[in-house]
Order: sequence, then structure tokens, then C-alpha cells
Amino acid sequence: MLGRAWTALVPDHVFDFWAERVSPTWSRRRPLARVVARETAADDTVTLVLAPNRHVRRPAPGQHLMVGAEVDGRLVRRSYSPSPLPGGRFAITVKAVPGGRLSDHLVRHARVGDVLAIGEPFGTLALPGDETPVLLLAGGSGITPLIALLRDQAARGSTRPITLAYWVRTPGEACFVDELGALAVGHPSLRVHIATTRATDPRFAQGRLDADTLAMLTGEGSAPHVIACGGAGFVAHARALCEPRAASFQAEAFSPPDALPGETGDAEVRLARSGTTLRVPRNQPLLAALEAAGLRPAHGCRMGICNTCACGKSAGITRDVLTGARDPEPATALRLCVNAAAGDLVLDL
Ligand code: FES
Repeated sequence: MLGRAWTALVPDHVFDFWAERVSPTWSRRRPLARVVARETAADDTVTLVLAPNRHVRRPAPGQHLMVGAEVDGRLVRRSYSPSPLPGGRFAITVKAVPGGRLSDHLVRHARVGDVLAIGEPFGTLALPGDETPVLLLAGGSGITPLIALLRDQAARGSTRPITLAYWVRTPGEACFVDELGALAVGHPSLRVHIATTRATDPRFAQGRLDADTLAMLTGEGSAPHVIACGGAGFVAHARALCEPRAASFQAEAFSPPDALPGETGDAEVRLARSGTTLRVPRNQPLLAALEAAGLRPAHGCRMGICNTCACGKSAGITRDVLTGARDPEPATALRLCVNAAAGDLVLDL
């Protein structure tokens, strides 16, 4: 009792300083995870198995969480899609992307024993509750939330018909190839189609997602639920092709588009709280545009999922860069990372 009373008087940073000398992930409040295994998943891609401390909330399959590490003396965070593992552990698969400070650090320098900062799980990607067939479309790193959903279905012994189609540029970029093959063998209701877009390999098909491929994947059966994950261009293409024919369509783009086709010129954005007024390009997501103007709005995933960047809009028209939809109504939680100015705006920033 006395010991507990004394430790309550100790500031968090002092408690953590001594606690981490006993165990690197001991902390009074901070969600942390230790790297307990790493293996190569594909070219420039590693899978890290993480053992979290008790402050980390367990992610559901298909969710994301922010992962942080110190790079050149600064904490850098990015969102990754974890795959839950037995024993409370989870795995993240990280591809080194050009200019990606954290991804480069994790792929080339993270070692067993390193401790990473972990954020709250977020995201609502999930298989619908009925037994309608599901078509999963993965472009590149978009495979990571989808493999988590597939592993979960397999662990539950689900017999729902699922087709996974997964595109990579080159054979060396394909992750989970052996595991996907084994899952398909063990679960006859699962069909796996892996294709390359820039090089051939006898193990894989070749070509991009198009109407013929979609017809081959869906066959004559009822319209499937479609879930697409990948870069912004891949998701936009999948949406245009599949949404009209799907029972439902969910998508997550891990990168917002750099520029919006069909939008030109600038818009005036007034930041009501700071009293600043600036001009931003109408063809760029507001988060990127404000950053280019030297501002630092709060953000997390940069893909419209975590809501960290959400702020109020009291006037003006915005355009959702993922769907193209225009919204003239005031909003209490406008996600800056996936909305652009379609006219002059007033934001609660
Ligand atoms: S940064 Fe996550 S929703 Fe915008």
C-alpha cells in the first residue's frame, strides 16, 4: 500500500525511466511494443512481430494503428495494418518506400529487441455480416489489411466464398505467396489470383485490373461485396470498375491522390482560429496544401481513416478526393487529408 502511494507521487517520465531499465516496454501509461522477430517478406519488405505492453489496445483484423520510432533523433510515426497473432502479439509488414523515413528505418535498421511506440487501433474495414461472396482487391501494400481479414476467416473455419486478387509490379514484390497458396489449399471456398503488371513469372498471372479480369474473378454468381485496398490510383480505378456491379464497395487508399484531375486554380482558405488567410490549389488535398504553406495541422494516417486531421468547416464547398463528391454543407469533422477546396473555405483551425 505504502509502495503504491509512493509510486503515485513519482512523475510518469521518472517512473518510465526506471521501469524501462527493468523491462524495455514497462511504462506507466505509454503503449509500447517490442520487436520479437523479423523476417523478409518480399523485396525491400519485412514483417516485424511485435509483443505489446498492457497499454496497447488489441487491433481487430483489417484495422490500422500508428507505429512510431526514433529516426535521427526525432519520433516519426506512420500507420500500418497489423495482423493479430496468438498470445496477444501482432505482426506488421513494412515496405521501404522512397523518402519514407520510418519505413526505411524499420526495413533496414529495426532489430529484435527494439521498442516501438504504438497508437490506438482505428479503421472500420471488415467483411459484411451476411454470407454473400466477397471479392478482395489488393494493390501492392494494400494486401496487409486483407491478409489479416483472410487469416481471421481461416481461423474461424469460415466457408464463405472469398476471392482475393492481388496485383504487384514485379514477382519479387509479392508478399505472403506461400501462405496464400496454403490457405487456398486448406479452404476450398477461397480463391487466390496473383498478378504482376511489369514482369512475368510462371507462378502468377499478368495484367492489370480490367473488365475482363473482373468478369473472370466474379463469374456468373451473385454480385459480391468488394473491398479494395491499395494506392489512390488503384482504389479509384477499382471503385469506377466495381462499384456499379457490387453488392457493396469498401475501399482504403493508403495514399491520397497527389493531384485531382479536372480541378484547376486556387481557392482562398480562411483559418478562423488563427486568423490566417491563404490560397491553396484546388486540386490538392487540404492537408498537403496547408503543409506546403508551412502549417502543421494534426494528422495521422493521411488516408481518411483515423480522423486525427478532422476539423470544422463553417463555410465553403469541399471535394472528397477519394469519391469526387462535392459537399457544400458546413461540417464538424472535415478530414483534411482526403478533402480539397472546391471553392473558398472557412476552416476551424
Ligand atoms: S490523417 Fe487520418 S483521417 Fe486524415
